[in-house]
Amino acid sequence: MAVLSIGALTREGASALLAEARERTLLLVSSLTSADLRTQHDVLMSPILWDLGHIAHFEELWLTRNLAGPIEFSEMPGMYNPFEHPRRTRAELPLPALDEWSAMAGDIRSRVLALLEETDFDSDNPLLRDGYVYRMVAQHEYQHNETILQTLQLKTGGPYQAPRRWESPRPTRDHQPGAMVRFPGGTVTLGTDDRTASYDNERPAHQVELPEFWIDATPVTNGEYAGFIDDGGYDRRELWSEAGWAWRTEARLVAPQHWEQSSGGWSSRVMNRQAPIDSARPVCHVCYYEAEAFARWANKRLPTEMEWEAAARFDPSTGSTRAHPWGDEDPSPELANVDQLAFDVAPVWSYPHNVSPIGCYGMIGDVWEWTATDFDGYPGFTPFPYAEYSQTFFGSEYKVLRGGSWATRPGAIRTTFRNWDYPIRRQIFSGFRCARSAG
Ligand code: AVJ
Ligand code: FE
Repeated sequence: MAVLSIGALTREGASALLAEARERTLLLVSSLTSADLRTQHDVLMSPILWDLGHIAHFEELWLTRNLAGPIEFSEMPGMYNPFEHPRRTRAELPLPALDEWSAMAGDIRSRVLALLEETDFDSDNPLLRDGYVYRMVAQHEYQHNETILQTLQLKTGGPYQAPRRWESPRPTRDHQPGAMVRFPGGTVTLGTDDRTASYDNERPAHQVELPEFWIDATPVTNGEYAGFIDDGGYDRRELWSEAGWAWRTEARLVAPQHWEQSSGGWSSRVMNRQAPIDSARPVCHVCYYEAEAFARWANKRLPTEMEWEAAARFDPSTGSTRAHPWGDEDPSPELANVDQLAFDVAPVWSYPHNVSPIGCYGMIGDVWEWTATDFDGYPGFTPFPYAEYSQTFFGSEYKVLRGGSWATRPGAIRTTFRNWDYPIRRQIFSGFRCARSAG
């Protein structure tokens, strides 16, 4: 069945959504050994058994305990509570083996489906109305799928045997490195009032006044990024912010994560595929500070998240914002490089529909794009349904990323969707595009 990314659910739809989410989770972990599942492959990541347990635990919390009554707690106490157990300590937990997890998750799912029979989606409770909470739980599983894929890219003990289901398409037009398109300036409605799928941090819809600016027509490619490296970008202090230079020095950054240099030039690895870097594909696994230094080198800057969203949605011919860059159709692997199973970024201009009205390619999929904006609530923000999804992370420590990556499921990406991470992080599937103020 087609899985809608947004919109009111039926009970049958909710059940199908949860089943499909689990099917994908199981596909991603199917080639892993019990040691692979239990190992903490990197200090930044959880053992995969923790993600699996946490997925089931979140479902139990929201779709059984909190379903009818008031929400008593935002995260259940115990092993899978992320705040009680920070990532670096999760290897010490007595995590159940995969078969024990399957039994537990199966038991939770039967209770969830039994309760679903009695649940009214035509409700005054905003958690139940239109099946919001079911979509939220499915979306949470999708997000942990992407986390699991970050872990698998860092996997120790031999590369992950990625279950590739399709290869990237080929470009349908030529890429002009550094080409920019113009946003004419104007009043733009950003964010959303949608209450069927969107997270609290995407709401409410609000108007912003944006002056004219220019923005890259595509994400920065490996070829362009290699130009920055070859030009001594990593060694030129003046290109880096103070915090960026401190981190570049401490972490000894010389190239994106997973790039390797040999006599033949740079190569990079995605899961179990190592290949010379393809200059036509978006650069991936760079931190905010690397993006910022590249932008300065190119005589540009990073876009704000408002500029990013306007560039993805604004249609100058009507003065309104679209749901998606291409129009109304939900994101899918036909329209954009999303939904994981390509296991790679695609050459730019490979998805001819993935272009916004002002001419930005690839705003959905391929790589999360760093923006210059700190993660905060929109004017009138109200936490819903729990403060620990977004509000706990508001402030200047985190930068917003937009647009989703190849590893993002379609149900967890929208033009309004906001992701965030520390500016030093690059285990995420992160790239960027640049902007420039007009005049
Ligand atoms: C939105 C990706 C920053 O993984 O920390 C998962 C998503 N929230 N479970 C994260 C999330 C709760 C979140 N990010
Ligand atoms: Fe979670």
